[in-house]
Amino acid sequence: MTSFPDLRLRRLRDLEPLRNLTRETRLSAANFIYPLFVTHGQGVQEAIPPMPGCYQWSLDRLGQEAAEVAALGIPAVLLFGLPAEKDPTGSGAYDPEGIVQEAARVVKQAAPGLLVITDVCLCEYTDHGHCGIIDKGQVDNDQTLELLARTALSQVQAGADMVAPSAMMDGQVRAIRQALDAAGETSVPIMGYAAKFASAFYGPFRVAADSTPQFGDRRGYQMDPANRRMAMREVESDIAEGADIVMVKPALAYLDVVQQARQRFDHPLAVYNVSGEYSMVKAAARQGWIDEKQITLELLTAMRRAGADIIISYHAKDVARWLREGTP
Ligand code: PBG
Repeated sequence: MTSFPDLRLRRLRDLEPLRNLTRETRLSAANFIYPLFVTHGQGVQEAIPPMPGCYQWSLDRLGQEAAEVAALGIPAVLLFGLPAEKDPTGSGAYDPEGIVQEAARVVKQAAPGLLVITDVCLCEYTDHGHCGIIDKGQVDNDQTLELLARTALSQVQAGADMVAPSAMMDGQVRAIRQALDAAGETSVPIMGYAAKFASAFYGPFRVAADSTPQFGDRRGYQMDPANRRMAMREVESDIAEGADIVMVKPALAYLDVVQQARQRFDHPLAVYNVSGEYSMVKAAARQGWIDEKQITLELLTAMRRAGADIIISYHAKDVARWLREGTP
């Protein structure tokens, strides 16, 4: 074994072109998915206070935003909707004229090359804010499956290119695959939120999407943050049910889970760089306490280094601009 002074690892760090040649992980706009929040009304571009730079868009403004995302070289958007009304069964989620269904149509029209992915869940649409149907005070898994399948199918029929079930109901990927196939939509892929943890990092999103549970919490269906082996079983079961892409969510505090999933499975792997991760960076940057650009690029590089192929991130537009400017 060579060691110092024959071995000098700094040799490869001296010159920028050498650092470039030996860099193991790179960020590209092509790996990102940008989430968008869609709401009713006219001319709405409503700021989301804990998520500076993110907005709730009305349909008449959405097209322009989608076109901007596409022009930045970001290949896909992930749509979330704020319905006009909520009810116990979340019927706005599977309304053929629902807010996300309309949004899918608008985006496909405005930016035909942009991939439209829709989040499949009920929490934005239920008056109690849970991700499924409530029966005897509990979120009922099996009754929820049919509604998730209807939601996914209605989104695909409105033009969604891929669906992403996030409700953490057992069997949701299978139920959606069966519904899509039965309707002839055999070529539409499913990105499963496979290992989704019950995380405090979703706090800002629940402001953005108005989806805070009105009683209790989501620990009865989302995963315990302490469990990595269980996360592998979740990923395995999404794959067995037919997921084409699997996801670990959140990203930052779960990179060990990402790394292990990368080693165990050959499916494309996504991470969700969630709202709370974004808010923390934005808040500290606004105070002048950190360098937003350098911190953001470092965090996102770490997600790729851990093994993520795809990053869903509210930073996506900024990153695409920085990369275009030729940031090292
Ligand atoms: C819907 C859903 C949530 C997120 C994505 N899909 C909220 C939740 O589970 O409470 C969170 C995304 C984020 O925090 O950025 N269930």
